Formats: sequence, C-alpha cells, structure tokens
Amino acid sequence: STVYLKDYRPPAFLVSEVELDIDLLGEDEARVAARLALQRNPAAPRPPADLELDIDEIAVESVAIDGQPVGDGRWAADARHLTVKDVPAAFELRTVTRIRPRQNTKLMGIYLSGTGFFSLCEAEGFRRITPFLDRPDVMARYTATLHADKARYPVLLANGNCVGQGDEAGGRHWARWRDPFPKPSYLFAVVAADLESCQDRFRTRSGRDAQLQCFVEPGKLDQIAFALESLKHAMKWDEDRYGLEIDLDEYNVVAVGDFNAGAMENKGLNIFNTKLVLARPDISTDWDFSFIDRTVAHEYFHNWTGNRVTCRDWFQLSLKEGLTVFREQQYAADRYSRAVARIQAVRNLRTGQFPEDAGPMAHPVRPASYQQVSNFYTSTVYQKGAEVVRMMHTLVGPENFRKGIDLYFQRHDGQAVTTDELVAAIEQAGGVDLAQFRLWYEQAGTPRLTVRDRYDEASRSYELSVTQQCPPTPGQPAKRPMHMPLALGLLAPDGRELPLRLQGEAAPRGTSTVLSLHAETEVFRFIDVPARPVPSLGRGFSAPVVIDYPYDEAGLQHLLSYDSDSFNRWEAGQRLAMNLLLQGVADRAAGRPVQFPEYLAQAFGRVLADAEADPAFAAEALALPPEVVIAEQLGQIDPLAVHQVRFAMRSFLAERLHDGLRRAYDHFATPGPYSPDAQSSGRRALRNLCLAFLMDLRDADARRLCLQQLEAAGNMTDAMAALSAIANCDCPERRAALDAFHAKWRDEPLVVDKWLGVEAQSRLPGTVERVRELTRHPAFTLKNPNKVYALLGSFGVNQVQFHAADGSGYQLMLEQSLALDVVNPQVASRMVRNFERYRRFEPGRQALMRAALERIATTPGLSKESSEVVGKALA
Ligand code: ARG
Ligand code: ZN
Repeated sequence: STVYLKDYRPPAFLVSEVELDIDLLGEDEARVAARLALQRNPAAPRPPADLELDIDEIAVESVAIDGQPVGDGRWAADARHLTVKDVPAAFELRTVTRIRPRQNTKLMGIYLSGTGFFSLCEAEGFRRITPFLDRPDVMARYTATLHADKARYPVLLANGNCVGQGDEAGGRHWARWRDPFPKPSYLFAVVAADLESCQDRFRTRSGRDAQLQCFVEPGKLDQIAFALESLKHAMKWDEDRYGLEIDLDEYNVVAVGDFNAGAMENKGLNIFNTKLVLARPDISTDWDFSFIDRTVAHEYFHNWTGNRVTCRDWFQLSLKEGLTVFREQQYAADRYSRAVARIQAVRNLRTGQFPEDAGPMAHPVRPASYQQVSNFYTSTVYQKGAEVVRMMHTLVGPENFRKGIDLYFQRHDGQAVTTDELVAAIEQAGGVDLAQFRLWYEQAGTPRLTVRDRYDEASRSYELSVTQQCPPTPGQPAKRPMHMPLALGLLAPDGRELPLRLQGEAAPRGTSTVLSLHAETEVFRFIDVPARPVPSLGRGFSAPVVIDYPYDEAGLQHLLSYDSDSFNRWEAGQRLAMNLLLQGVADRAAGRPVQFPEYLAQAFGRVLADAEADPAFAAEALALPPEVVIAEQLGQIDPLAVHQVRFAMRSFLAERLHDGLRRAYDHFATPGPYSPDAQSSGRRALRNLCLAFLMDLRDADARRLCLQQLEAAGNMTDAMAALSAIANCDCPERRAALDAFHAKWRDEPLVVDKWLGVEAQSRLPGTVERVRELTRHPAFTLKNPNKVYALLGSFGVNQVQFHAADGSGYQLMLEQSLALDVVNPQVASRMVRNFERYRRFEPGRQALMRAALERIATTPGLSKESSEVVGKALA
C-alpha cells in the first residue's frame, strides 16, 4: 500500500515521556515494559477516540492506562497496530511486550550480532521494540533501563547519560540511561554486549567537556583510533565552519558487524557498521580511511542536521540527509583535495544517481509517495539532495548560506520540519527568491542543458543560448523549467580567461561567473570578446544536470590544458574519452574496426607527465569514464560491447604510454611508514592506476611487478590494487594469489569482504560459477549485509559477468535475492534493484532480466520491500 505526502496529518496523540525497561532474558527473548506519557494533540484536526500505535513482529502481553489494566475487549493487536479503545485526553499508558532478538534477521529493532545485542531503528524499527507512534514528528524524552547477564554482556548503553547502574540477582546487572533531548523514536538505540572501549574527551570552544568513548569487539581496539581522531576533527570543524557545538556530556560510538546501513546517528550513541569505523593500514585501503573519516563526520553532523532539527515525515528524509551529505562534502573538501573531492562526488552521482533518475524507481529528492520508506534511502535523496543544497549555497553565496543555516536553527531547533523550512531560511537570509528553485525537491529526472553559441566578429560579441529540458519520469510526464546556477568562464585562443561582460551590465564580472537559469531557454550575450572563445561550462559541476555542448577535439584539448577550473579540466578529459568511446561502440556495432587517435594518447600523456604537481588529480584525470556512465549515453545497452571498447581504449593508452606509466610506477612510490593523508594516498592512487594500465597489456613484466607488489605490500591499498589486477588477469598465478590472500586474512571479516568483492568483480569467464561457489563458502552468509554487499553487490555491478549473455548471472542473482528476501528484505530489495533498468538493454538481455523480475514478482510471500521494486520496474 502506498503512502502519500499529500495525506500528511499531524499525529492524533503526542508523547512527552518514554520510559523503557528492557530485560534481555537471553538471546531468544527480551521483555520490554514501556511507560508512555500521552496526550491528545491539540493540533490534530478530528481527535479519534481510540489510540492506535505501530507494532511490527512483537507480541503485546498487557496494556494498562493510569495504573489500571485494560481488559482484553478494550485493546487489540493485529500485524501492524495495537489499538486501545476510548482513551482519555491525557494518560499514562503501560505496555508489556515480548521480542525475539535471535529471530530478528531483518536487523531492524533489537537484534543479535557478534558479542551481544545491538539496535537500528531508522526508519521504522522502533515499532519492533515496543508499541509506539513510530513517526518522526512525535518527539519525546527517553529513559531506558537495560537488564542483562553481567558476564556475557558487561556493557549496557543507550542514548544520553548513564544515570544509574547496579547488580542484580543471578549474575545479572542493570543500567539506566536518560537522554535530556526530546527526540523522535528513530534515534533511539541500545547496546548490550561484550565490548572493549577507549576514551577521550573533547573540549568545546565554550569550554564544556564531552566524554568520547568508542566500543569495539574484544581484540579490535587497535582498529578504532583513526575513527576517534576523525570524530574530534569533525567536532572542531563544525564549530569552526558552522558555529555548532556538541550538546552532550557523553558521546558514544559503537562498532557492529551486522548492520543494514553504513552507520546511524542515534543521539549520543552512534552505531557504525564495522566496515565504516574500523581501520588499520594493513587491513584498510586509503579509500576506506577517507570513507571512515567522512562517515564519522557525517553521523556527528547529524547531531544538528537531523537530531536537533529533524524531519516531519519520511518524505522529508533529504532534509537531514541531503544537508548532512553536503556538510560531509564540505568537510572532505577542507580536509583532502578540494578538486578531487568534487570529482569523486560527481562520479558517484553519475554512476549511481543518474541511472536511478532515468529508471523506474526515479523519484524527486522529496518523494511524493512510497510503499516502503526503506527503499528511499537512495542516491537521489542523499547525493542529489546534497547537490540541491549545494546549488542554494552557490546561488546565495557562502556567507548568506551560513546566515541561512543559522536562521534555520534559530527558528526550528527542537522541531520536526520539512524541506520547505530549510529553503525558506536560506531564501530569507540570502535575499534570493527560491520559489521556482523548490521544484528541485518535487521533480524527478536529470535535466539536460543544451548549450549553443555564436560568435560575431564584427560586434565582438558572443552569444550563449541555454535550453533546459527534463525527461519524463514515472508519474511526471511533463516538467517545468527549474531555477539553477550555471557557473562558467570563457577561454581565449591563447588560453587566457576572458573578463566576462554581459550586455546591459555596467561592470564586468571577472573571469568566472554564475548565471541564473530560470526560463526554458535563456540567452546570454557577452560583449568585448576579442575572439571566438571556448566556453568552460558548469564549472565545479554547478548543477546536477547533463550539459550538451558540441565540443570538438580542439576545444576539449584547450580546456584540458588551460581551464582554471580543475573540475572542468577533468571533465574535458572525460568528454574527450567519452566521445571516442561512443564512436568506438558505434564502430563495433557496425562491424568497423575500433581504433583510437594519437591525440588521445598525447593528451593523456601530458596529464601523466604533469602528474607531479597533483598526483591525486592526475589519477582521476587518467581514469576513463566508468562502464555504467558510458552505457548511460547509449540508446540500447550491450554491456559487453561497452566493456570491450573501454578495454580497447585502456590497452591502447597502456601501449602508447607504456614507458611513462612504467616510470611513474617507480617514481610515485611512497617509501617510509604508511599514512592515509591526501598527499601519499594520491601518489598511491596514481601509481596503482599505472599498474592497472600496465596489467591490461598482459605482459610478463607487468605481471611480475604486480605479484611483487602483492607479496611485498606493507598496506592494504597496494595489496588490493595488485590483487584486483591479478583477479582480472588470465594467468597461471591468478588462482594461487586469490587463495593465498584469503588464507592470510580469513580471520579478518572486513578483509574477507574485500576478497569476495574482488572475486565477484572479475571480468574473466568462469566468474558466475565462482560466485555461485562462493555463496556456499563458509565465509559467506546471507545473514550478514556486508557479506551480501561484498559478494552479490559487487557481482551486480560487474558489467560483463552479471550481464553474461546466457543469463547465468541473472539466474544467480535471482536465486540469491529470493533466498535473501525471507532473511533480510531491506537488503534483498537492493539486490532486486540490479534488474530494474532492464528496458535499457538490448533485446536479448532485456528479455532475460524481465523474466527474472517476473519470477520475483510471482514469488509467494515476497516482501513488501522487494514487491515495491519489482512492481515499479514492471509497471
Ligand atoms: N541515517 C543513516 C545515515 O546516516 C542511515 C540509516 C539507514 N537505515 C537503514 N535501515 N538502512 O545515513
Ligand atoms: Zn545520514
């Protein structure tokens, strides 16, 4: 059943206080006694006589109102609700409920993992713990008391501050936690486990001390130091950049191996997937380190953008996620390379969000409806949501943006609001009318800007016409033009940046400017332009759109050499390669030979030769557009053709640039102790990219280098780079290398995940069978989301093997998705999404993918999560 934004009604009842007593009787059973202070909501239109609370897979045993048991006839529980008849205007409700942690394989609510009990409530998991008005606009103060066996579960945690603890009969103990801040139920969390911890503290700029404590499974303390440092960095950064301080005395961070999400910002008790918090140079890559740093910061930033000001309903998810991802991106740009951070964010958007926006699950940043909110933790809500916030930042400028955020907190601290409130605050502080801009929250689809230009020598004027068009998406056949910033500059033939003077404007604008687009077509006329310029359009990726401008090779080379905007320098290289890749795909389809021009090798050769100044940037500039991004440009996708043409280009470049690549491989070595800092990780990125290119040549020298690196690597970044290259190399050493890697790391689950991922991403024949075999390997289980993502998630993005022409990859994904659906539907529906874009493929694969979707659709007992995906895909 579908829920609509337009049907939003304020809650009929409000809860001011929640007191929970959670008695963890054993792995199989817990008893939850709840005391809720309830009153009718004066803001609710027609107050009903009955109270209706959400429940999900819990057994309600008793109900009492104001100390009096409520008789059986007056309350009833079905699968979704506990209904209590004829309740007073204000009262205390007590319920007693049984939950079954061991059976909770959905990993929502309270469940078992590793050495104890952990929880995840966002979005609708709290109703799996106790009956409640489980919606974010109901905010209450929580007190939680935990009871458990003391020896087995020595650590007892919940939100807020510990206000009491003690021993109980039978070797048990208890602890009581009180959270001083009212919060929605999705931010509730508990942990009861055998964990080790380390402590630190953070002194706020106003002189308050917060105690920081990180909890990990015994033996993993040496893997948490990095995250703790990140947390302190993030706290400092939020003070410096936004004037926001930590508001708690105790801030706890817990790592758990079984987790549906990356991490969760529960108030004062952040819970992290081990993958996104544990790090050590020998087991974590540079990428892991930076992702962990960002995620720790992200969850911390939620304390203000999400917790202090929260969402009115789940349609507003991007209110907290889009804004927090944007803040996380600003943090990353400050801490690493600004240019590289931007490039990576955009690549991410193009590989994840653009395809989503062009598929059957396309939805606005603020969806208008959903069946299962868990299906809407999407790249649109997160990544495109962050781009929308970034556009407002661009339109009003950084100072006004900061004023807008200040105003947002002034107005809405302690409230549950909508994305409109955020936009209104920025609008008011920024003095820019954002009425039309709000469409970004309502319209799905990736707009296309068609840019055409005309230079007139006689009048020395240059005219740019920009037409925007947004393709139809499900339920939205026609779109209105949107307000967006278009940042640009003009490059003279000698490479200089021209001062920009718009006709009708008194003052020149400098050499880089932001134009505001409103109408479907806008024409801008620049004057005093001495010669036909090359336009540098969408600098810094100023809007989440596709820019269509007929660049020729010379223009792109010009931008690649001279553009002062590093993002657009990178973009020029990507366009240069993309044009030739698309030509290659067309040639291959027409039976013509696939060949590449020497200028491509020369352009890439110059990037390589100039790499010293910024190796991280060079590594990004030398990476060819990903296969999915190429596929996105095609009318009908043949994934094998895309792969082969891209591989041909890689081999071509590797051959032409061989000596330079080989020299760079030696030159960019990082001797000395490992450090994940931007400088040395950039050198490793470039060096390993050179290795990957050289490996594509299939020569013995490269293979020797690669095996040597695998053998001698003092860090996981270099080891993984070598291992993935070997995994894609049809050579005698391959199997032994993969097996040895697994044998070496079999006791480190996070490294085993990497190994599963490398196996599943191999483009070599036999991969489908190998992945099937690995689904039966003792290292694999459908019960652990990380294992599923590592093996099946990686396989799903393997363009060659998942899309094997005989359908064997689809068959495997189908079987595994169905098996997973009964264990963990939230994760299963993500696997099912591997099929959703079937219409985009050539007829053979299209038919096979469609058949898989139909099989899933007709499976009895299919979860609501997967049903929503298949239903929309087949619609
Ligand atoms: N709020 C979390 C974040 O920081 C994500 C929670 C997702 N929940 C889930 N069940 N997958 O992004
Ligand atoms: Zn988040």
